[in-house]
Formats: sequence, C-alpha cells, structure tokens
Amino acid sequence: MSSAKREIILGIGGGIAAYKSCELLRRLQDLDFSITVVPTPSSLNFVGSATWEALSGRSVSTEVWENVEQVKHVSLAELSEAIIIAPVTADLLSRLAQGRAEDLLTNVVSASKAPKFLVPAMHPNMWLNESTQENVRTLRARGFEVMNPDEGRLTGDDSGIGRFPETSEIISAFLTYIGSHQDLKGKKLLISAGGTREAIDPVRFIGNRSSGKQGVAIAVEARNRGAEVSLVLANSNISDIAGIETIRVETAQQMHLVLKQKMQNCDVLVMSAAVSDAKPSTSSSEKIKKKEFNSIDLVENDDILADLSSAANDSQLIIGFAAETSNIEESGREKLKTKDLDFIYVNDVSGGAIFGSDLSAGFLISSDGISTRIEQTSKAKVARMILDNVVSRLSYANG
Ligand code: CTP
Repeated sequence: MSSAKREIILGIGGGIAAYKSCELLRRLQDLDFSITVVPTPSSLNFVGSATWEALSGRSVSTEVWENVEQVKHVSLAELSEAIIIAPVTADLLSRLAQGRAEDLLTNVVSASKAPKFLVPAMHPNMWLNESTQENVRTLRARGFEVMNPDEGRLTGDDSGIGRFPETSEIISAFLTYIGSHQDLKGKKLLISAGGTREAIDPVRFIGNRSSGKQGVAIAVEARNRGAEVSLVLANSNISDIAGIETIRVETAQQMHLVLKQKMQNCDVLVMSAAVSDAKPSTSSSEKIKKKEFNSIDLVENDDILADLSSAANDSQLIIGFAAETSNIEESGREKLKTKDLDFIYVNDVSGGAIFGSDLSAGFLISSDGISTRIEQTSKAKVARMILDNVVSRLSYANG
C-alpha cells in the first residue's frame, strides 16, 4: 500500500544545525523519499561526507569538478521533484539570491526548475541583518519557499530568532509546499497517546513505560495528510506540535472523560495510549511512610476503548493497540473481536523493545481478517501504514 518513492535533493549549508539534518534525512526517508544529499564544501566542517553517504546510501559530491562526464548538476536537477536545503546560512542565502553557481549545490539550484524549500538557521543578528532580510525577500519573490527560523536558545548563550525549526515542523511545511497527498482532508481524528498514571500518594503512582511516540507519530502523519487532529496525551514529555490540538491528562479517568466528549465529533478514534488497568482504591493526600507502605488495594479502571467502541456509530472507525510479549497475533485478534475494533496494531514488546524507541514491530490486524506482519521499522512508517488502511476503509465506506 506504500506509494512510489519520490526523488528529492537535500542540500546542506555550512551551519552547526547541519547535524540536525541527519534526523531530517531519516524522517524524510521514512516518508519514502529517495534522497541525494548535496552538502556545500564548508558544511563538511560540521558533518562529513561519510555520514551523508552512510545515511543516504548514495555517493556525495560537493563540487562540479568531480565525475565531470556525468554533468551531475544538470542530471541531479532534472531527476529531483524538489530541493530542500537545511540549514541555509546567511552566506548561502546571499549566494542563492545572487544566482551564483560556484559549488555543486548552487549549480544544482540554478539548473533546477523544481520547487525549492529553504530552512534558514543562524544567529539572530545575522537573520535580522538588513542584507539577509533583503535576500530572503528576493528569494521569496522568485518563488523560493523560505521558512522562518524558530525563536529560542542558540548554540552559545544567546537566544532569539534563528533556531533551526523542529524536524516535524520542517517536514509538515515541506510536504504542504510540494503538495503531499491530502487524503485525510475534512476528517477528524481523535488520538490518545502516552501512559496514564494513578496516584498512590502525592509522590508515588502506578504507571507504565509508554512514551507516547507512536501516537504522536500518528497525529503528525494525520495532520500532514490534512486531517483535523485532537491528541489526548498522558504524561509524555513530547512538546505540543503546531497544527495539532493537544489535551494533556494524567489519569485513566481524565482521559476517558475527554475522549468521551470529543468522540461525538470525530471520524476516527486511534487509541494508542497505554491505560492503567487498575488504580489504588484510595489515594492518600499525605505521603505514605515506609513502615505503612506494605500493600496497595486496587480497583479496576473502566476499559475506555471498549466503552467508546460500544457507543460508536457505524461510520466511526475505531483503532486499538495492544502490547504483547507472547501469542502476539492471537491476542491481537481476540482483542479486536472483544473490543469490536476496525483495526488493531499489536506491538511485539518481548525483550523490552519498543517503549521509548523510535522503532516498532508487530502485526496490523483488520476486522476483515487480514493480518500484516510488520518487521522492525520506524514508528513514522507504522503510522503511515495504519493511516493508509484508514483511508482505504473510509473511501470504501463512502464509495
Ligand atoms: N485500553 C483502554 N482502557 C483500559 C485498558 C486498555 O482503553 N482500561 C485500550 C488501550 O488503549 C489499547 C487496548 O485497550 O488500545 C488494548 O489494551 P490492553 O491493555 O492490551 O488490553 P486489555 O484489555 O487490558 O488486556 P490485557 O489483559 O492483555 O491487559
């Protein structure tokens, strides 16, 4: 169900944020882009060719004088659907605005008719410098998309405007710019993520190892595909993400209340949160002293997913999650049936893997009986596969 690979160029300017583009490259690969990295010669002071070659799986050149017979700047320009340059320095902005062509990257840019997306990162004084601002205006007027840098802490002690934006923000803006598939436009997705906590006393709680990364990856992918996304996030240290309504909760009961209220107005529920199955029957307002801390009396929490699924209308899609250490596929099938779900993604957590990781492995099982084994891959890719299935189910229901 994955779409064909799309060829793009990732240009790297000579700024310290070059190291952050290693992550950007990885996340773009997760979205099935095939990427040729073209660093400027000075950027190799920050990240060397070997890193780019290993990460992209392709050879890397910085000059037009290497492999001259291939006329690389023209072939690369013709091959690529888009050029993204991240980071772009004040010097590179100036050279691009002048239309200079002295290294491979500036040659490729001047030979290419593809959309060009620039991510500047530099010291605030350099960004706010009138020459830089003039160059940005010139490039924008010529059709380059130039992102505004973020505000915040910079490499030294300074802070201000000039930070390299978060990878997810860059990807979202880039996809919007080059026209990614907006196949969830008009749909409302309600996503739970993270792990609930149940207080024992003001200091201790019953919790779990969920980081919230998988649910957040689904929320980001859904937003990129045009959906209106509400994320109910329990105890995760992931910060709020632009374009996603994030409601933070602590306990299972708080999560249940928010989801119940939001459920009336959503097309798809993705229940990826790890909900505590039980809570202490009483929560002490004072810290319990060691001598009295012998046992905890538990009461069961409501099964949120089962409750929401039983009250859902026929057009709402319900996706559940499970984390299993044995009989992974069978347990998934059973939960899919008992909780009346459209899909379930069962994480294989044997060996302590998955929690907190960027990788996942498991089975995606659908109510029509199809089960797909997912070998270890990024959580972003799992998000995409789940939403590909959601889109086909929604279009089947509408068609
Ligand atoms: N879930 C929920 N409310 C609960 C427990 C779980 O909504 N109180 C949801 C989870 O978010 C997940 C799915 O149910 O989408 C499966 O959770 P899991 O804990 O694996 O299922 P349980 O029914 O609790 O089964 P087990 O006995 O394996 O713990």
